[in-house]
Amino acid sequence: CGIVAYIGQREAYPIVLKGLKRLEYRGYDSAGVALINNGLQVYKKKGKVAELENHVSGKDMRGHIAIGHTRWATHGEPSDRNSHPHVSGNGKLSMIHNGIIENYAQLKQELLNQGHIFKSDTDTEVLIHFIEEIQKSNHCTLEEALRIALKRVVGAYVIVIIDEDNPDTLIAARKGSPLVIGVGKGEHFLASDASPIVEYTKEVVYVNDYEIAIIKADELILKNISNERQTPYIQKLDIELAAIEKGGYDHFMLKEIFEQPQTIFDSLRGRLDAKNGTLTIGGIREHAEMLSKAKRIIIVACGTSWHAGLVAEYMIEELCRIPVEVEYASEFRYRNPVVGPGDVIIAVSQSGETADTLVAIESAKEKGAIILGVCNVVGSSIARLSDAGAYTHAGPEIGVASTKAFTAQLAVLCLIGLKVAIVKGSITKQRFQHLLDELDNIPEKVATVLKLNGRIKEIAAKYKDARDFLYLGRGYNFPVALEGALKLKEISYIHAEGYPAAEMKHGPIALVDENLPVVFVATHDSYYEKVVSNIQEIRARKGKVIAVITEGDQVIPGMADDIIEVPEADELVAPMLSVIPMQLLAYHIGVLKGFDVDKPRNLAKSVTVE
Ligand code: G6P
Repeated sequence: CGIVAYIGQREAYPIVLKGLKRLEYRGYDSAGVALINNGLQVYKKKGKVAELENHVSGKDMRGHIAIGHTRWATHGEPSDRNSHPHVSGNGKLSMIHNGIIENYAQLKQELLNQGHIFKSDTDTEVLIHFIEEIQKSNHCTLEEALRIALKRVVGAYVIVIIDEDNPDTLIAARKGSPLVIGVGKGEHFLASDASPIVEYTKEVVYVNDYEIAIIKADELILKNISNERQTPYIQKLDIELAAIEKGGYDHFMLKEIFEQPQTIFDSLRGRLDAKNGTLTIGGIREHAEMLSKAKRIIIVACGTSWHAGLVAEYMIEELCRIPVEVEYASEFRYRNPVVGPGDVIIAVSQSGETADTLVAIESAKEKGAIILGVCNVVGSSIARLSDAGAYTHAGPEIGVASTKAFTAQLAVLCLIGLKVAIVKGSITKQRFQHLLDELDNIPEKVATVLKLNGRIKEIAAKYKDARDFLYLGRGYNFPVALEGALKLKEISYIHAEGYPAAEMKHGPIALVDENLPVVFVATHDSYYEKVVSNIQEIRARKGKVIAVITEGDQVIPGMADDIIEVPEADELVAPMLSVIPMQLLAYHIGVLKGFDVDKPRNLAKSVTVE
């Protein structure tokens, strides 16, 4: 979900509405706003933010304090009544919430017994009624009631409350879900991330877990849960407005795909010096020695970041000879994993806020593991919780289907692997230098692959009506096949499966017939000959073969229905090239089918609930 709030001299509604549009990538099944203007006014609507905008058009939306929410449903289907903001029983308090209140059922029962009536199925409405009930029975301020309530709450949240009786104050609290406060001149902006804030102010405060913020137009008070004042730490944002706008592209996703030569370069910049044969990663400088001695490395992540982790497993095992496991954060966390001192966890996350990843590293840290973060969002929760790490410099990623964050993760994970290998002495000088050169050349080669956009669009048109797709690859290209299938599923709603090319004969081959397009990621690497055999196996069963190959390949073009040629590269860095056609193919199929590729149904960019 995305939350926005404003308090200050300006009209609050237009600011909150624009903020909701900027945050829409975090959830878009319903949206709502509440403001105070002759009493509390609440408007909410199922659907995208544009539908809310239509719904309120013509209404008196004046006011200098407002909260807004764009939802990704957890408790209760997307509907008008389940949309936020929610309102207390007396109609005075209104609240937006991102997160999950895990013990809501118990709280709800207590409140029902006290006579409360609920209008929605949400945990959020329970919480605002609970706060109201405490305020009433304890005769205390809203702030005090909130503090008492939060001591009972189990779960994750960011909440923002407005109170009809105190129209000059916003109250917010955070645990687990992100909250950024923009500090302006006589005004404050609150949001789930910085994107609704950058155009107004570059000064921000990241609220910490268990903090409560009491915000007036010209005053920001932070307190911890024990009511002690905290000094707000004001940081400077380094995002430019242009980075969060489409800049002439039809979609954010396409813009972000095309940014990759630059974003990979930015992720290598200042770290890789191929000419002088050196590599510096400031964020792990003091940990490189320890890393080289690690008994094992566990990579935890979700979604596309998990795929980057899989590539890193191949890289790090080859370069550093350290065993690597790659875990879905959600599975790792809850099976009481064997982890402790001497283990190194690498958490890979674009947003740095994914709840599954966050709780996984929290528990591993408690057990004594060292945590390295590879995040894209500066100041994000995972970045802050990590002992060390290296940021990817992909810039804000708005398209829900991750693209440029993935290649930036590959670049940074490769740098980490190389650094540890050279410290450990598990790589020869020659191979080290070769790989530095190879990395150095990647941005230019990515630009070459992007020139195939027109050709890939033609291939997309040819196969867009297929019901299923199979994606196959081996070695470093196996995770690329998984990522290709994920991209297609996410934005075209075509069922797609990624599989190791060799393992295909143990099951998925049963699906192959003349209607099944099979995408092979078959660039020149140590598995090449074997992949060629796998292509034959598909051909023999009349499957349609689309192959991503290395330029100059003489063999596969004679077998495949369609080929996409990418420049030659060492297999270790090749995924940064071979994934680009996967991204473009999915993009064009999604667009040709008429879907909103930046906001695919049911998905959200940043999943801040477990
Ligand atoms: C969501 C997004 C994916 C992303 C995953 C992990 O599912 O839709 O694109 O890969 O979360 O996100 P993270 O921010 O941790 O990389």
